[in-house]
Parts: sequence; C-alpha cells; structure tokens
Amino acid sequence: MNATIALITGANKGIGLETARRLGAGGVTVLVGSRSPERGAAAVATLREEGADARLVEVDVTDEASVAKAAAWVDDEFGRLDALVNNAGVNPPSAAAPPSGTTPAAVRETYETNVFGVVAVTNAMLPLLRRSPAGRIVNVSSDLGSLALMADPDSVYYPYNLLAYNSSKSALNAITVSYAKELADTSIKVNAVTPGYCATDLNAHTGPRSASQGAAEVARLALLDADGPTGGFFMDDPEPGTVVPW
Ligand SMILES: NC(=O)c1ccc[n+]([C@@H]2O[C@H](COP(=O)([O-])OP(=O)(O)OC[C@H]3O[C@@H](n4cnc5c(N)ncnc54)[C@H](OP(=O)(O)O)[C@@H]3O)[C@@H](O)[C@H]2O)c1
Repeated sequence: MNATIALITGANKGIGLETARRLGAGGVTVLVGSRSPERGAAAVATLREEGADARLVEVDVTDEASVAKAAAWVDDEFGRLDALVNNAGVNPPSAAAPPSGTTPAAVRETYETNVFGVVAVTNAMLPLLRRSPAGRIVNVSSDLGSLALMADPDSVYYPYNLLAYNSSKSALNAITVSYAKELADTSIKVNAVTPGYCATDLNAHTGPRSASQGAAEVARLALLDADGPTGGFFMDDPEPGTVVPW
C-alpha cells in the first residue's frame, strides 16, 4: 500500500506543525491544514526541506465551504484518508473573563473552532476515512476539558477557570465518545488526547513543555495499531497511553 496519509488541521504552527513534523519524519504523507495559504505554504516548505512528504490543504474549520473543498481535494488527490488530527483550536481574548463575565458571543466564538469545526471536518472526512484500512481520528483536547480535573482542588488545572475554552474541550471529549460509539464496528478508531501544557502562541508561550513534546502522543494516536483503544482520552505522562480522567 502507499504511504499513510494524515491530515492535521491548524498545522502551520504549534502542536499541529510538530505533529506534522513527527508524522512526516516517519514516512507519513502529511496534509498540512492551514486557513492561511501563506502560513501553510511556509510550514510545508520547512517540512519538505526536512525531507517530509508534505502538502498544503487550505482549510478554515469554521467555514463549511472551505471544509467541503478540502475534502474534495483529498478525495481527488488520494481517494482516501488514513488519519485525521483535529488540532485547530482557539482560546480567544474575548473568552478570558471569569465565568460571570464571559459573554455568549465569546463562548460561541470559541465553540465555532473547537467544537463545531471538529464536527464539520470529521463529517466531511469520514467518507475518506472509511476507505482506509485503518482510519484514525485524533481530537486534540486538553486537561482543562477534563471535568474530573477541573473539579479537583488538588489538580494543578483547578485554578484555570476558563468557561468557554474548558467547556469546549469537555464538549470535544463527549464528541470523541459519540463518534467512537458510532464507528465501533468499523476499523476506525477515535480518541482524544491532551498534549499537556506546551509553550505555543495559544498561551503566549507560558507552558513548561515544548510543542514537540506535546505532539508526541498526538502522533502516536494517529498511527495506533489495530489492537489500540478507541473512545479514550490519553496523555504521554508518565508514559504514552496514560488514561486521562473524563
Ligand atoms: N498549548 C497548550 O498548552 C495546549 C494544551 C492543551 C491543548 N492544546 C490544544 O492544542 C491545539 C493546538 O494548539 P497550539 O497550542 O498549538 O496553539 P497555536 O500555536 O495557537 O496553534 C493553533 C492552530 O490552530 C489554527 N486555527 C485556529 N483557528 C482555525 C480555524 N478556524 N481554521 C483552521 N485553523 C485554525 C491556527 O492557525 P492560525 O495560525 O491561522 O491562527 C494554528 O495553526 C489546540 O486545539 C489547543 O486547544 C494546547
């Protein structure tokens, strides 16, 4: 069979780019999703210089026409998709207020990308994933989306009370379970992952981990064996495949 084909949304920088880099270094054909053609082309050029088989896929996950066009392009070029990494995510400035000051508009803005965008991209790509012998969907969630951790006063994540962002990732976790249940009788596996707190533009580079470290578990789940799990939530600390409480 030809090389594994993986699409990563929001792969022009941060954890998405590092996921593309890891997969590309392993011989995967990486489809670099980017809403900006310029930023996407720059990422593709870098990955190609490093030897990866990288291609640009222009896709704004909040724009259903853009998502449909991206799916049609993948279909024309490859006729299937082996892995979809729903990585694109935002924590907009409008959503920085405490819960009592968070507006519905700020929640909506966050959900457009982190929740509705994932549903749009997943549904558009599913027909292509079904044509893969081993389709994999990886939803890039967060420890902050874990209801168990956000409610636990002993958790290091307890103080981060971001209504819009955290609940968007809780919704993403529920969405992960929903797809995994529908696809349980197929060869497609659907999992959520937290990359941990990584230094990226999303958090003004405050995280103690690198984006590359965060990408390790994302990339691993994109290439799970047939006996790997589905419908789970994972992190790489202390070891790959460590279960995160919902
Ligand atoms: N960094 C962390 O500590 C951390 C922890 C847990 C989870 N995460 C999750 O990891 C994922 C990647 O975040 P990151 O930290 O790498 O942040 P980042 O560096 O800000 O990257 C976010 C990526 O998403 C893209 N994006 C945003 N809106 C988009 C849209 N509508 N359509 C397509 N692409 C869009 C951005 O594109 P532009 O360049 O065009 O803006 C960028 O490529 C997110 O889902 C985030 O929630 C991050």
